[in-house]
Amino acid sequence: MKSYNIAVIPGDGTGPEVIGEAVKVLDAASQKFNLKLNYTHYDLGGERYMKTKETLPDSVIAELRKFPAILLGAIGHPQVKPGILEKGILLRLRFELEQYINLRPVKLYDERFCPLKDKKPEDIDFVVVRENNEGLYTGSGGFVFKGTPNEVAIQESVNTRRGVERCIRYAFEYARARRGGKPWKGLSAADLAAGKKSQLTLCGKTNVLTFAFDLWERAFHEIGEKEYPDVKLAYAHVDATTMWFVKNPEWFDVIVTDNMFGDIITDLGAMIQGGMGIAAGGNINPQGASMFEPIGGSAPKYTGQGVINPLAAICAGAMMLDFLGERKAAHAIETSVMKITREKVKSLAAGKMGYSTSQMGDLVVANL
Ligand code: IPM
Ligand code: MN
Repeated sequence: MKSYNIAVIPGDGTGPEVIGEAVKVLDAASQKFNLKLNYTHYDLGGERYMKTKETLPDSVIAELRKFPAILLGAIGHPQVKPGILEKGILLRLRFELEQYINLRPVKLYDERFCPLKDKKPEDIDFVVVRENNEGLYTGSGGFVFKGTPNEVAIQESVNTRRGVERCIRYAFEYARARRGGKPWKGLSAADLAAGKKSQLTLCGKTNVLTFAFDLWERAFHEIGEKEYPDVKLAYAHVDATTMWFVKNPEWFDVIVTDNMFGDIITDLGAMIQGGMGIAAGGNINPQGASMFEPIGGSAPKYTGQGVINPLAAICAGAMMLDFLGERKAAHAIETSVMKITREKVKSLAAGKMGYSTSQMGDLVVANL
């Protein structure tokens, strides 16, 4: 029997509730597929911070490094000033554990939950590969003359050749492997004749950010043309990308972009796939400790009511199993989530699902 050590950070607000359901489903899948998951809980988050003034002790980072995977609920507390927990816990983990990819699938399971007119599950099925360690998120910059009329605030976007290349390579590999090598539906006859199977779109802003995205664009073409002739290369400016997400989401297969743009477009992506109740992501270090999370926040106003949708956390659990190489178990969870989304739930929004948080977990388990 295969066994994995998993670190669990339930976090703040409704985080512990959704993580409880994710663990319930993971345990059911483990039983069915003959796996063993050993969980170690960590109480990082707003409560701990208020008691101890500690966000993330170095000793905890050292421990977390040893796990192949971490499951995270949500970080964010209404009584803690914005930025402290986000930077001190979530971003610090992403950086210190070198989780340089933020992988965010955007997949619509049922057209009832899409806010776009006439879009069906086959139209919304793409993946955003967001760079997760650089760009505007490094904290590079500062103030000059702060608090005076002459004050200056500078926030710099950091783009290293190494950081950009490893992200782009990951995205090409992902695009190549997606759908088990079956060609993506959006390819033209000419693309297919040329041996293309997938499409990777670079999302940038080459018309204004002429340093950062110049580097991105050159690296994208150099790597793509030389190493991935089977993948079709495409480009969209970030503003146009948000337009296409609404107008023609079926044009996307895999998208690669920087940290800030990836943050923004994946909130829109989450909405067109049915909302924060279903959207999951992975912070990936292909060689190290990777962390999986529902992409929504801690939703403090719903804490303890049993009304929050746990499907996003359950999908994060499935992504974690997939990352660990447990493809079948991951797929079984995803299929079960898809089935109950199509056949049972009234809405994906908190309080409107027609079931409580734990009943949702039970439904997924029953379908497994
Ligand atoms: C996300 C979140 C975080 C981010 C915040 C909470 C720091 O919005 O995971 O998308 O900006 O990356
Ligand atoms: Mn975000």
